[in-house]
Amino acid sequence: MALPACEFKPGLEGIPAAQSAISYVDGTKGLLEYRGIRIEELAHKGSFLETAYLLIWGKLPTQDQLEEFKTDILYHRRIKYHIRDMMKSFPETGHPMDALQTSAAALGLFYSRRALDDPAYIRKAVVRLLAKIPTMVAAFNQIRKGNDPVTPNDNLDYGANFLYMMTEREPDPIAARAFDVCLTLHAEHTMNASTFSAMVTASTLTDPYAVIASAVGTLAGPLHGGANEEVLAMLEEIGSVENVRPYVEKAVANKEKIMGFGHRVYKVKDPRATILQELAEQLFAKSGHDPYYDIALELEKVVEEYYGQKGIYPNVDFYSGLVYRKLGIPDDLFTPIFAIARVAGWLAHWKEQLGVNRIFRPTQVYTGLHEAPYIPLEER
Ligand code: SDX
Repeated sequence: MALPACEFKPGLEGIPAAQSAISYVDGTKGLLEYRGIRIEELAHKGSFLETAYLLIWGKLPTQDQLEEFKTDILYHRRIKYHIRDMMKSFPETGHPMDALQTSAAALGLFYSRRALDDPAYIRKAVVRLLAKIPTMVAAFNQIRKGNDPVTPNDNLDYGANFLYMMTEREPDPIAARAFDVCLTLHAEHTMNASTFSAMVTASTLTDPYAVIASAVGTLAGPLHGGANEEVLAMLEEIGSVENVRPYVEKAVANKEKIMGFGHRVYKVKDPRATILQELAEQLFAKSGHDPYYDIALELEKVVEEYYGQKGIYPNVDFYSGLVYRKLGIPDDLFTPIFAIARVAGWLAHWKEQLGVNRIFRPTQVYTGLHEAPYIPLEER
């Protein structure tokens, strides 16, 4: 039976790809909720692992549930030496997102049992991925510098342990808390490109490691998670507050996108950008100002003058890099950190998708030829 003709929307703008109870965005009010709880509440009062539990299992954990979850994750933080050895064969100049995508996919080689209808299997996969992804990001960072990876520290919680694996020093509690808040802010965001990618992969009933690997690959692009790294490169290129206006004027004239601005859903400032900006200011007050922040502030002001009417404001990627830099994190790890956090959201959507699964198989509007002749090779 022929389906009624439907309008083609580039980028599937406005087309629902799923029903979901995980998160909600109101792009005109600048509102983001995870399972109905406002992002500001979770960022100021909660923790990343509590948030991950909420996203994946639908309810805030009790104290016992949270302790058990934390203990399980702590137990699974280490990675097999085969994975570390595999990373040693990666080029040091390779991007850490490519290293992460490869390593995430490699987990499927070690944990090959697939039992998608078994809640114990789902829980184990969730725990393994949340536990091992940060260890893999930190391990590649050490290996590319010629060092051995730093073994996870069992006395430190999730975010603090990641910072420890980066430097082999216990982080200052304010830095650890700021990092945990960043993870909470990046944990989930409705039907974004990488989540959609995860869900398409999940819908084939493949293993969860392939689901996460495909999502990591999608997040890496500069129009999505990769923008956070590009923002810092842009601020460096601008170089001074005085250069901001000419930079924007040139970008407007050449119709170039300004990184860290604009969003398919938000037509006001992304609420996560507001919280990240506050975090950056707290860190600057404690450990010194960053002159690139002044450039960022001026850029926000000038971009608003040009594009505010179009609803183009800072998104989540605009201020995050300034926070990460202050925490001593190299620029090319900004997007892998986004991935560490977003694993929670990807897994929540994976689990939700499995409960109602039907393989994704959209249609297309064919614009090619019909009945075209085959021209023999020697005649072409
Ligand atoms: C993330 O989807 C999510 O939820 C993603 C995310 C998440 O948490 O998962 O929030 C994370 O990916 C944040 C976005 C990071 N990307 C960037 O910062 C890159 C720069 N921004 C853009 O390229 C753009 O705004 C997107 C990709 C974010 C959104 O793209 P859309 O919805 O397809 O919008 P578009 O490119 O079609 O732009 C619409 C109009 C255009 O103008 P017109 O041709 O209509 O006149 O807005 C303009 C664009 O030129 N525009 C910009 C702009 N973003 C949009 N103009 C200048 N600079 C920009 N950044």
